[in-house]
Amino acid sequence: MIRKKSKKDVDLSDTSTYASRHDLEDLNLEVLNEKGMPARVASQLIEDELNLEGAPALNLASFVSTWMEPEADELILKTLNKNFIDHDEYPQIQNFHERCIHMLAELLHAPKANNYVGTATIGSSEAIMLGGLAHKFSWRAKRKAAAKDYSKPNIVMGGNVQICWDKFARYFDVEPRIIPMQPDRYIITAKDVEPLIDESTICVGTILGTTFTGEYDEIEEINKLLLRVKKDKGWDIPLHVDGASGGFISMFIKDGIKWDFKLEQVKSINLSGHKYGLVYPGVGWLLFKDESVVPEDLVFNVNYLGGNMPTYTLNFSRSSAMVIAQYYNFIRLGKSGYRKIVNNMMSVANFIAESLLEHGDFKLLGTRRMEPVVSVSLKDNSQFNVFQISRKLREKGWIVPAYTLPPNAERVETLRIVVKENFSKTMAVDFLAHLSEVIAELKSGGQVGSAPHRDAKSCIH
Ligand SMILES: Cc1ncc(COP(=O)(O)O)c(C=O)c1O
Repeated sequence: MIRKKSKKDVDLSDTSTYASRHDLEDLNLEVLNEKGMPARVASQLIEDELNLEGAPALNLASFVSTWMEPEADELILKTLNKNFIDHDEYPQIQNFHERCIHMLAELLHAPKANNYVGTATIGSSEAIMLGGLAHKFSWRAKRKAAAKDYSKPNIVMGGNVQICWDKFARYFDVEPRIIPMQPDRYIITAKDVEPLIDESTICVGTILGTTFTGEYDEIEEINKLLLRVKKDKGWDIPLHVDGASGGFISMFIKDGIKWDFKLEQVKSINLSGHKYGLVYPGVGWLLFKDESVVPEDLVFNVNYLGGNMPTYTLNFSRSSAMVIAQYYNFIRLGKSGYRKIVNNMMSVANFIAESLLEHGDFKLLGTRRMEPVVSVSLKDNSQFNVFQISRKLREKGWIVPAYTLPPNAERVETLRIVVKENFSKTMAVDFLAHLSEVIAELKSGGQVGSAPHRDAKSCIH
């Protein structure tokens, strides 16, 4: 049947995208309208509204990559339409995935003899949920076998964890035992962990590169503690390392930090490919040192896509693009490429940290910074606050979050600057110049309202 053209049909044959707008004027874009519109009008409408957003290149708030090489962009476009879970249809993508796991396992010193296992995830949150679930199930199986109570699992972690850890505890019914921060300590130590662990601790969660200050927990010392506890009390408590942001940094520089599978109790590690793995949002990694850590009842086998396929993920379908993008970075950059980028980011971050110290208004937070992140707070006698600075910087296009630290350090207000691959020294110089202008304006009584208070865990990632 031929549909009759109604008066309202948009005809773009003799007009430009913008000139056709009047035809769309009464369209309500909050609802799914009966009729659509020409492709170029639709895309222009969306692009116009997107201009209201912040510029990704000036986003110093997030660890998540905002830039990749044009060749990676092309590969991403070509693989967006391939569902990663269709192993049988796209076996080559599975090969790339396996290769990534092997490369990461080598970098993390996973012993080959242990049959390490790993999987790509959507990000570190999914990886942490899956890691925690494996530890919960393993712990429960052991308790059942020993005819002991398995109704009250707990997980020990710091108040410095990213919100996904709190989600894990709540969603999967595990008691969170949270070590509070202190006004001058934003990491967890073995001394903090010791009183909280017991025979129902499914694992201790430690962070390599905390979201708040970019510092690392005392992972090596906590490993020693868990070894002592295993020997003295027989509790074999695994250690999970959340290397979401710090993992890809520490793997490529000689920072002397011991945190990976070389430590006996470290049984699982997550990394965000989309942070310092240098890929756009949508890829994380989870590795287990030993296949026995992943209980069989968590791995599902499906055969309806062809072939028999084991899956251990929370979601099923996803695009292959970001896994391909990770593989591209691995073969394109090699270890030396990553090393150069990481060293460059660290030196830009150090330059910013030193400049802020010289500036005189700021103090650096934390003494165990191990990644290109600079967290500062204002000196005590300041006439303005970090929220005002953040707001003023936003007027100039820079996105720098201001937030308070987690309990019991919530008195500490901080600004956090995350240096990413595409934040060059030139950009850092521009940023510092703008920051100086902002501070001068605030000192001269520039009219700036306090930005609304932002709770750290809801605004940083
Ligand atoms: C230490 C840490 N863990 C976990 C996450 C969650 O990672 P994702 O955003 O990849 O889910 C983040 C995100 O910033 C993080 O910094």
